[in-house]
Amino acid sequence: QADRPLSGKKVLITAGPTQEPIDPVRYISNYSSGKMGYALAEAAVAAGAEVTLVSGPVSLPTPDGVTRIDVVRTREMKEAVMRVLPEVDVIIKAAAVADYRPKVELTSKRKKGTSEWMLELEKTEDIASEVGKRKAPHQLFVGFAAETDNVAEYAQAKLERKGQDLVVANDVTQPGAGFGTDTNIVTVYDRHGEVCALPRLSKREVAERIIQLIGERLNERQ
Ligand code: PMT
Repeated sequence: QADRPLSGKKVLITAGPTQEPIDPVRYISNYSSGKMGYALAEAAVAAGAEVTLVSGPVSLPTPDGVTRIDVVRTREMKEAVMRVLPEVDVIIKAAAVADYRPKVELTSKRKKGTSEWMLELEKTEDIASEVGKRKAPHQLFVGFAAETDNVAEYAQAKLERKGQDLVVANDVTQPGAGFGTDTNIVTVYDRHGEVCALPRLSKREVAERIIQLIGERLNERQ
């Protein structure tokens, strides 16, 4: 049906930040509020999909009809995504995953000393690249790219590198776009280049447009 384009489809969405502990009272993270991913979950349910939302720590209520799996660390997000991945038709990665974690996690609180504190970081798991490698041909993979410059070039490079079918790029330096805001300004790319550039819209409206596009892409494949 035209108004329920994802009817009968299973969709996995990641949202929010991940947190990487430094010690029992401190962590490394980012400004993601989860609003973009949660809006996508709502729009996907409205479009008829069965939705699993893998969520980092955010203060948003679970949208009606959504199965939510809470995670904190990047490793936990990866485990949850890999567990659910084989069952879904679509995966949308709107989460802002912490790219680095402390090499050593302290088990007790570090006291403020007089000297500097050099924190050594190591890379976390790249969940998107792993999904790109493992996904079956019938699964549609949609990534996000948060960029501050060379948005088109970097987003398209990410799409290729991570094996994505679509990438939603937001220039997070623009007012009303990116982290924490109720609105977003996005451009969607596929392997052939720009698919559409949306004006500033509420995250719910952006989500509806992305879900509609996903519905069209799934239709074309059948
Ligand atoms: O949550 P909000 O406050 O509403 O903000 C929305 C948002 C800005 C977080 C969202 O629109 C967005 O852009 N999400 C992706 C942010 C991001 O981490 O982009 P990236 O360019 O660093 O990563 C690219 C892709 O790889 C993303 O799909 C990300 O989920 C994935 N990734 C990144 C690193 C990593 N270790 N594993 C990953 O899977």
